[in-house]
Amino acid sequence: MQDPMKQKEFTSRLQHVVGEDGVILNPVDQEFYVNDWLGKAHGRTVAVVRPRNTAEVSAIMRLCHQSQTPVVPQGGNTGMSGGATPDMRGAQVVLSLSRMKRIHEVDPVNNTLTADAGVILADIQKSARDVGRYFPLSLGAEGSCTIGGNLATNAGGTGVLRYGNTRDLTLGLEVVLPDGRIWNGLRGLRKDNTGYDLKDLFIGSEGSLGIITGVVLKLFAAPAGRISAWVGAQQLSHVVTLLNRLQSTCGPRLSAFEMMCAPSLALVTQFLDGHASPLQNSYPYYALIELADTNMAGLQEMLQDALSSAIEDNLIDDCVVAMSEAQSLAMWRLREGISMAQVKAGKAVKHDIALPISSLATFVKEADQTVFNSFPDLPIINFGHIGDGNLHYNVLLPLDVAPTHYKEITTELNKRIHDLVAQFNGSISAEHGVGTLRRDELRRYKSSVEMDLLISIKRALDPNQIMNPGKLL
Ligand code: FAD
Ligand code: MLT
Ligand code: ZN
Repeated sequence: MQDPMKQKEFTSRLQHVVGEDGVILNPVDQEFYVNDWLGKAHGRTVAVVRPRNTAEVSAIMRLCHQSQTPVVPQGGNTGMSGGATPDMRGAQVVLSLSRMKRIHEVDPVNNTLTADAGVILADIQKSARDVGRYFPLSLGAEGSCTIGGNLATNAGGTGVLRYGNTRDLTLGLEVVLPDGRIWNGLRGLRKDNTGYDLKDLFIGSEGSLGIITGVVLKLFAAPAGRISAWVGAQQLSHVVTLLNRLQSTCGPRLSAFEMMCAPSLALVTQFLDGHASPLQNSYPYYALIELADTNMAGLQEMLQDALSSAIEDNLIDDCVVAMSEAQSLAMWRLREGISMAQVKAGKAVKHDIALPISSLATFVKEADQTVFNSFPDLPIINFGHIGDGNLHYNVLLPLDVAPTHYKEITTELNKRIHDLVAQFNGSISAEHGVGTLRRDELRRYKSSVEMDLLISIKRALDPNQIMNPGKLL
């Protein structure tokens, strides 16, 4: 929408729907909404519009449908694939759900919570806790990401091993379609075989099919507490064997199993204040392990026994079991600090990949060699949720790297690492989505049949292509 008259008329119609305070037109105030958390994606917008309820979202979408104005949905803007950032042309509207913050119902008997899409994840977790229940989705950005963004990216995080990803935690959805119609699928049912599962189309669609406005989530029994431990090991294969053993001995009590390589931990202790390694010596690999249950009796002994036999069998070299919640929190701060430490330390070439757990150690050996052959001086920051086969296999470049050089290295590394992922039957996007970052890569690794199906779904639901153009497909 380049014509200033038309643009003025359009923005005043938006103001008519959501009020003047619901439309941000000043470029300085728009800054948060047009740049991403990683500092990699930048754009411009006609207007940032902030509706308060589903009816307002519907009215906005009717306006955008009539004027064929492209829309970029946005939640907390913590995404890592550039999906929530408008392009540079300044013709797209950013539709922010940040004012849709109502929790409508918490039902501890049905074990469900119904909320607006703009509710912050940490507030959902708290509302569940307030009625003695547990919502297990947990990630470093939980204080600012929204449940709508979690759904749109099918977010993973640290609880997937025990509870599954966001898709597994969702029972119902409400969605505003690109033409403004509202689909009310806010059902709290565990069984519903009345045709295609529409909610599964929208989960993970990254704003490319419609605006998620409401959600019914599953709740679980609240764990009585947790026991955390930090271990150091010489080899990744040993860490994977330990994971396997703990799954056998602890069953569903194993609630998290996170890994980081030595350079990842070094980055956190060097770049973030007040972070120190829990172990005296350093090791090539570390794991952060957590057990949780509704009954804590015997849990600490269970973990201590398992770790003692792992030391006896030379699987791990050292370990420390947290003796208090404060110690446990300090361990988690190390793990969750990696993203921020990376941003402070340099420019990361990121890979968010999934592999069969049985192939993880061999994959990493080959990938490390591949990176070393081309870029022997660049540190590999490899960490992730290995309990569910998800690695954040990143390579760090200096902060002052020239943009063209960064782009060249990114293209080369992406190709090498993703080709290897494909050889191992893995995925090039485990939990962060495709966005703009992996859009070209997607075409390289999906079969033409799969691409055809994805494009057919997009055309059926968004025939005018106004939903988040340039993202995902
Ligand atoms: P946004 O960033 O605003 O949007 C993300 C995508 O969803 C965009 O494509 C956007 O268009 C679309 N979207 C947002 N809201 C809606 C809606 N209501 N309807 C339709 N489309 C919508 N992710 C993980 O999976 N696991 C992690 O462990 C993890 N850790 C992180 C740690 C840190 C420190 C940070 C900064 C990010 C982390 N992330 C992680 C990435 C990010 O937090 C998640 O992807 C999160 O789900 C995004 O939510 P958001 O509300 O910020 O979405
Ligand atoms: C994490 O697991 O910490 C994240 O997904 C964030 C990242 O990859 O930086
Ligand atoms: Zn992650």
